[in-house]
Amino acid sequence: MAELTWGRHYAAVEPTAFRVDYAINPFMDPAVQPDAALAHAQWTGMVRVLRSLGARVDVLPQRDDAPDMVYAMNLGLALPGPAGDRVVLSHMRYPQRRMETGSAAGWFESAGWSTSYVGRDGVGAHLEAGDAFAFGGDLVVGYGPRTEELALKALATDLGLRVRGLRITHPGMYHLDLAFCPLDDRRAMVCPAALDDASAAALLDLVPEPLVLTEEEALTTFCANSVVVGRTVVMPACPPRVRAQLEEWGFEVVLVEVGEFHKGGGSVRCLTNPLDVTVGRELAPVPGGEVVLPA
Ligand code: ARG
Repeated sequence: MAELTWGRHYAAVEPTAFRVDYAINPFMDPAVQPDAALAHAQWTGMVRVLRSLGARVDVLPQRDDAPDMVYAMNLGLALPGPAGDRVVLSHMRYPQRRMETGSAAGWFESAGWSTSYVGRDGVGAHLEAGDAFAFGGDLVVGYGPRTEELALKALATDLGLRVRGLRITHPGMYHLDLAFCPLDDRRAMVCPAALDDASAAALLDLVPEPLVLTEEEALTTFCANSVVVGRTVVMPACPPRVRAQLEEWGFEVVLVEVGEFHKGGGSVRCLTNPLDVTVGRELAPVPGGEVVLPA
């Protein structure tokens, strides 16, 4: 098996205004606020670990009015490629997060990326980038709680890719990145309990060697919400059974403490946004695009 060819360049948002001001997922409770200094220290520690593994991390400032902006994974779907660096900006399901998109667009544009949308400002399809990951040459996209099915067609057509949709039905795994983590070209952590039966079967078909997580493992440890740099898996926690399988496969597990961010419903993956998933490398061009949905 071959290491992931992506995962060495990220964007992250420095938490200077991280709060739980509203509840848009089952983890959030405005009565349980993060400790700002501890959250900042945890984030700094995570960035230090990623950089020590050789990953580049570019840092965006957080808007004061956007407490969830720290979950940079959702800013947009960044796809560099031979035809130029493109980012499809998220169109957040909840209006509480929509202001993040303007800041993300400005940041990407000033770094030379061309920006596009499948919907914006409450008009058109919702897309949240934490639902979209490259695997097996295709873009695997979870839809339901956040991203809408309509976004899949727009992504496939606009980007000229094969988009494999998976219907998320679990309210606690409202983004695909809480239930799916590519590990290398054949392996991924997957939590079928996040999906309806047909989508769970489709995901297990797609991954030649799945590391299947129970609902409890995924929900209580956020272990699928991890980042892979080469053969190192940077995780918020790792159940012993999961660690044993990862190590048997030759991965090294590195734990980082990001518990303050679990109060907003996100962990290591949510706090980072990969900028090196490349069209023509991880994603096979498909002229005109194609959407594949489970039966
Ligand atoms: N509070 C954020 C929200 O509900 C958490 C986002 C977590 N990010 C992720 N990629 N799963 O939108």
